[in-house]
Amino acid sequence: MMTSYNKHILITGGAGFIGSHLVRQMVLNHPQYKIINLDALTYAGNLSNLEDIQAAPNYKFIKADIRDISSLREIFNKEKITDLIHLAAESHVDRSISNPSAFIETNVLGTTNLLIVALEAWKENLSSHRFHHVSTDEVFGSLGETGLFSETTPYDPRSPYSASKASSDHLVRAFGHTFGLNFVITNCSNNYGPYQFPEKLIPLIIHNIIHSKALPVYGKGENVRDWLWVGDHANALELVFLKGATAQTYNIGGNSERKNIDIVNMLCSIGDELLQRDPGTSSKLIQFVTDRLGHDLRYAIDSSKIQSELAWTPKIKLEDGLRKTFEWYLSNTKWLEKVINGEYLEYYKKNYSL
Ligand SMILES: NC(=O)c1ccc[n+]([C@@H]2O[C@H](COP(=O)([O-])OP(=O)(O)OC[C@H]3O[C@@H](n4cnc5c(N)ncnc54)[C@H](O)[C@@H]3O)[C@@H](O)[C@H]2O)c1
Repeated sequence: MMTSYNKHILITGGAGFIGSHLVRQMVLNHPQYKIINLDALTYAGNLSNLEDIQAAPNYKFIKADIRDISSLREIFNKEKITDLIHLAAESHVDRSISNPSAFIETNVLGTTNLLIVALEAWKENLSSHRFHHVSTDEVFGSLGETGLFSETTPYDPRSPYSASKASSDHLVRAFGHTFGLNFVITNCSNNYGPYQFPEKLIPLIIHNIIHSKALPVYGKGENVRDWLWVGDHANALELVFLKGATAQTYNIGGNSERKNIDIVNMLCSIGDELLQRDPGTSSKLIQFVTDRLGHDLRYAIDSSKIQSELAWTPKIKLEDGLRKTFEWYLSNTKWLEKVINGEYLEYYKKNYSL
């Protein structure tokens, strides 16, 4: 028997870190919606992130590349896509410094392809279809010691990654203004939690603590980020997608600003406890390495708009979230080892010269 669904929602980048949390949540919370996960499975995409829901009747995976507009057209037609949540991206700042072109191709041109195809497919009734673009707080640039990014902070991207994301945000707004596309944009701070690829700070440090390897920290570890539990981000994305006002932007943040060195020290203490090592053992592994080029000093988010308009708040406290994350990596060592392949090791050596 054919099931009929109220919406056919395409989620791009659903095999990545944040995307897999969102896909799982949407599949489980909305059996009346079909969730189609489109992902090119780059080094950062991993279908084992979604093993638990891969057989759900309202879930489908399609391997495709957003740089290829004709395959997007085919998918929109065949799957009768009604809505889109767009997360597929090249997402790592360090990689954008060594290979900026890949970021322009996927983040700028790939997003433009999706905008064009969505417009073509939905032109009869644009307002009843939603294009939700997922972006980052890095588009706003870098803060000094004080201040917060709000939705009206002027864009000032400073890395090839943030410039490519800023560019895609502008294109989404331009398609809204010019053609009447029903869009929402979310700009979020740094996420952490299970299934994050170990090139990013928190899983990298956890992996190295487990293996008693050096813990590389850029500069003096003074850079400040606002950290958000990935499940809290997925909740915010679901809310904005379902209830956010058209043509609006929502900033999402965790209210948990910390210096990188403080995060590393917190993980060292958690690691010593969970691995039953003497207090202070893991922090001896910290090694300061040459700073990232153009490293932004501080990001911090004012998320009062989503809190007041959509009643969203971050639920998981940073201390609890870091412990949960460490415990997850400890009980999923197979997942971690599997994603650490030769290409990653080469890249790691190049970036941290350890
Ligand atoms: N991680 C964070 O802290 C954070 C914070 C704010 C916003 N974001 C944004 O959220 C989104 C997801 O971030 P993430 O950390 O989960 O990233 P990720 O790197 O873990 O996942 C990205 C996914 O996109 C896929 N992908 C890459 N290029 C593609 C292409 N050309 N076609 C199809 N799929 C492709 C990859 O295979 C991967 O599954 C990104 O748009 C990122 O800019 C991330």
